[in-house]
Amino acid sequence: MTRPVRAAIDTGALANNLAVARSRAPSEPLWAVVKADAYGHGAVDAARALVAAGADGLCVASVEEARALREAGIRVPLLLLEGFFEAAEVPACAELGLAVVIHAPWQLEALEAAPGEQALTTWIKVDTGMHRIGFHPDEVAAARERLRAAPAVAGEPGLMTHLARADERTASATTDQLAAFDGLEHPGPVSIANSAGLLGWPGARRGMLRPGIMLYGVSPFPEEVAADHGLEPVMTLHSRLIAVRRLAAGDAVGYGGTWTCPEAMPVGVVAIGYGDGYPRHAPSGTPVLVDGVEVPLIGRVSMDMITVDLRGHATAAAGSPVTLWGRGLPVERVAAAAGTIGYELLCSVTSRVPRDPH
Ligand SMILES: Cc1ncc(COP(=O)(O)O)c(C=O)c1O
Repeated sequence: MTRPVRAAIDTGALANNLAVARSRAPSEPLWAVVKADAYGHGAVDAARALVAAGADGLCVASVEEARALREAGIRVPLLLLEGFFEAAEVPACAELGLAVVIHAPWQLEALEAAPGEQALTTWIKVDTGMHRIGFHPDEVAAARERLRAAPAVAGEPGLMTHLARADERTASATTDQLAAFDGLEHPGPVSIANSAGLLGWPGARRGMLRPGIMLYGVSPFPEEVAADHGLEPVMTLHSRLIAVRRLAAGDAVGYGGTWTCPEAMPVGVVAIGYGDGYPRHAPSGTPVLVDGVEVPLIGRVSMDMITVDLRGHATAAAGSPVTLWGRGLPVERVAAAAGTIGYELLCSVTSRVPRDPH
């Protein structure tokens, strides 16, 4: 058998999740976030499925990501979430027909200096409390006037912000951010909501919606799983047992001997490791499914293999199918065990893992 690690990508689940997102604000435009290779799912296939399911546009993080989608024949509007990274990228943005976020004065200057035949749609990013990128609310009116006057800019600039703590159900930070946004007069289109904003904050459900993680079937709220929202996992990372060892009491397992068999017992070896993006810091006890039976990871994760305690599943054998996350084992549970978030696990799946869209 060839190395059995695969990431199955369920495009039907993508369509279901898009419909869930759409149902929260049916009349608003929905631009699906497909940056970072569609959160590790494969940008072109995910984008095609999302467009077929009715996404009005797509959001990316770089001109390179946008170009790859255009070269694959994807024609829907694309938004560059942090805008261009240097003035020299402005012509490429125009050539690819991108909408660009403008968050800093140097980007205004670059557009003012760009030739007039470039008809770029722009979104002013206002910092309402995230304190990462964006104009101060007091600077928005002047930025808007400069964009209106810039020959390279087409139409009325939009106004967008990003929520820092929408994944906390009760954070007053979100109501403060919404109040700061609503304190700004703005004649053009608006955009506020990521997944947590869309699912959790009715006040954010207006204008262009920008959901990411929920489309991939992951809850943005740490204490909830996707099924709570009718979302289905899109990626199922799976592999197989390549060996079952009968070890003796006192045998230490794997690098560093961090886990010792308390009794004579079967230990399964799974072809998956940090070379595939499985988190090296996942501790003993992290859940793994073997033949659909949940068993604990034991010992250290190595580059190509992990070991599991098979005392609870004595009939497992070399070749038994293994699920690391996805259908049957929410990535949120693995992430919680490993002290991280589902976003990071999905984005970390490496290029050596074939993605199988179906
Ligand atoms: C500006 C912006 N909007 C929307 C999103 C989508 O966020 P989420 O994946 O939490 O829905 C992101 C993701 O990081 C983002 O940076």
